[in-house]
Order: sequence, then structure tokens, then C-alpha cells
Amino acid sequence: MNASFQITERLENRILELSATEGGPFYLYDTEIIQQNCSRFLSIPYPAKSIHFAMMSNSTPQFLEIISEAGLNIFVNSRVHLEMAMQLGYHGEEIVFAASAMDETTMIEVKQSGAIPILDSIGQLNKWFALYPGTGVGIRCNIGELVVPKRTLAGYFLGKESRLGLTLDSISKLEGNPNISGLHIYVGTNITDINYLIDCYNQVTKLVGLFPGLQYLDFGGGFGIGEKTIKEFDIETYGQRVSRLMSQVSEKTGREIKLILEPGRIIGVNSGYFVCKVVDIKDRNNQQMIGVNASCVQFPRPLFYPDDAFHPVMILHKNGYSNGKSGMASSIYGCSTYSRDFLARDIVLPQASIGDIITLGHAGSYCAAAHTDFLGFPKAKEFFL
Ligand SMILES: Cc1ncc(COP(=O)(O)O)c(C=O)c1O
Repeated sequence: MNASFQITERLENRILELSATEGGPFYLYDTEIIQQNCSRFLSIPYPAKSIHFAMMSNSTPQFLEIISEAGLNIFVNSRVHLEMAMQLGYHGEEIVFAASAMDETTMIEVKQSGAIPILDSIGQLNKWFALYPGTGVGIRCNIGELVVPKRTLAGYFLGKESRLGLTLDSISKLEGNPNISGLHIYVGTNITDINYLIDCYNQVTKLVGLFPGLQYLDFGGGFGIGEKTIKEFDIETYGQRVSRLMSQVSEKTGREIKLILEPGRIIGVNSGYFVCKVVDIKDRNNQQMIGVNASCVQFPRPLFYPDDAFHPVMILHKNGYSNGKSGMASSIYGCSTYSRDFLARDIVLPQASIGDIITLGHAGSYCAAAHTDFLGFPKAKEFFL
């Protein structure tokens, strides 16, 4: 299995330059692609909207500066990321903070920051209202009983199999509470099926009438590129459909309800490349086994999602790029002794040689941000075009 990707001359030249000077593996991001992804979300026609980049997908400061300059707000789920967001200049409602099992210290910090809080259970609401009676909060809704939940990358985010959000029963107990200012849903991750997203949103809109103080609907993130078969998420069609839905909600409610979105993966995924070098090659089980000067802890999606992570590969030979359309069964393994240290498995690649440069695509989201100290390799450096 393999898929090719296009690379600009500018990018190729920079990869060659950096490979000549860098001793280790590195990430390279195309700034223009990040900016284009941001502006596609900002072009969603519904006027009362706020687009919050999900920082967990890429928390590299330079990446965040690009996001902030492009005009996106921010979504965080931890105190460290909240503090980083504030240092970057985000404040108040430019920040959405959603988490589960928030302790009191976290709640106090969130309140002091002025961020929009999204809570995950009745217990969390009780704790919040004890600290801050009469203040507005959003609730994460698990509307799994109203839809047929679909398994997405990393499992179920709706229904009985998800640990997250308030069930319908809990939500209905809050009916009439004037301090519920928003309803939040996170349908799943890496979704390309717009119908599923809109169907789930539709169910959430049915709860709007329960809450007289409602100000916003937060439909979370989850916009994807698919795994193995790479698809382009159609933001334009999505934008039209979500805008139509929001206009209907606002009309029915008699006031403008704000739309909040929290895209993560889709903002960076196709902007980033992970680059490493071939150090050793061996044959094993009729496969070309390519050993590189990097470990899966530096490029961790294949470690976290061994069955699903898919990153197109290019090999830069001395005579130029090859995207592996023809070739032999291959795997790319890391330089530790850890048995699961693979960067790609069971793909088709042309014959590689020691010293070739390997570029893995779709490496701009949940890659650098997921670095782990396990095995003892340094965080790969990150560069921006
Ligand atoms: C509540 C919430 N919002 C947004 C995101 C970003 O999701 P994605 O990268 O799938 O767009 C996540 C990721 O887990 C999340 O949990």
C-alpha cells in the first residue's frame, strides 16, 4: 500500500539543504498550506462564528504563531496549553477550554483566564457552580442515543462506548438552567463523511430549546483526510451545510446563536513532512527493510495507531524523487531496539540505498506534538518554509 504526494521544487530544495546540514531527522512545514487551511475555515459563510485551532494537534510555538496571525482562535484541553495560549496573546473567549475530570485548581485557572469552559458531567457542573454560582458554562453532549455512533480513528466518541460527555438523561435534568450557555459535541476524529457530521449536529440542535440562556453551539473538530485512501475534506460543502443549519437554529431561537468549531488535524496535516535518512537496509520475510536515522518516538503516529496510521512516502535518490508507485514490499524501521519501532509498514517502495532521503507526508498534525521521551531520542527539530 502506498500513495504518492506532490512536492514543490521549493520544498524539495529546502529538504535537500536541511538534510545536508542536519545530523538527525526533522520536520518541515509549508507555511502557505497552513495559512490556506485556516482561511478555508474562516470562509465558512455563517457570520457569527469562531474557529478555534485545537492545539493538541500541533503545539509548536512557530506553528501557533502562524495560526494566530491567520486569525484563528484556540482550543485547549490542559493547563499547560492554556498558559501557552495566553503567552501567545490569546485571551478571554478567544480560548475554549474543554476537558474531563477537571480538578478545582484547573477550574479556577480556566475561570481566571476568561476562557469558554466546557464541562463533561453533572459532577463537574456541580463543582463549577459551587465555585462560581450563576456563571455560564458549556456542556459536552453525548448524543449517542440519538444517532447510530460510528467508529472513527481512536474509537467511539459518542454512545455507550465513549467515556465522554453528558448522556441525554443528564442533559434533560438540566432543562431550564439559565447558566448553560453552550452545547458542545465532538463526533470523532479523521472524519470525511460530511453527512455523519451534519446528522450528529442536527441532533444537538434539538436540545437548544431546553436552555433559555444558550449562546453558542460548539461542534468540535474531527475533520479528516481518511486513512489509507486519502481524501480531501470538502470544507466548502461542509461550510454551506453547517451555515444553513446554524441559520435555521438562530431563526428558530429568535437570536443569533454563535457557531464554534475546533479543527485540529485538518489545519496542519498536509503542511508537514518528516524527513530522515536511510542508514541500513536488510531483507526480511521477502521485504526490503529500510533502517533510518530516526525512531517512531520522534514520528509517533505509527506507534500510537499501528493499524491505521498511514503516511505517504517518498525516497529522494541521487537522481530525484520516487514516490514508490512501482517497487517492492517494504517497511521503514527506526534505529532503536524496540520491536515496534516502525515508521511505515507493508508499503511498496522502490529499491532504496544507504544515504537516500526518506520523506513521510501528512506529518503536520499529531506527529511532532506526540513526541515521547520513551527510548531516549531527542525531539526532532522543526523548520518552516
Ligand atoms: C474536544 C476536542 N476538540 C477538537 C479536537 C481536535 O480534533 P481533530 O484534530 O480531529 O479536528 C479534539 C481532539 O481530540 C477534541 O478532543
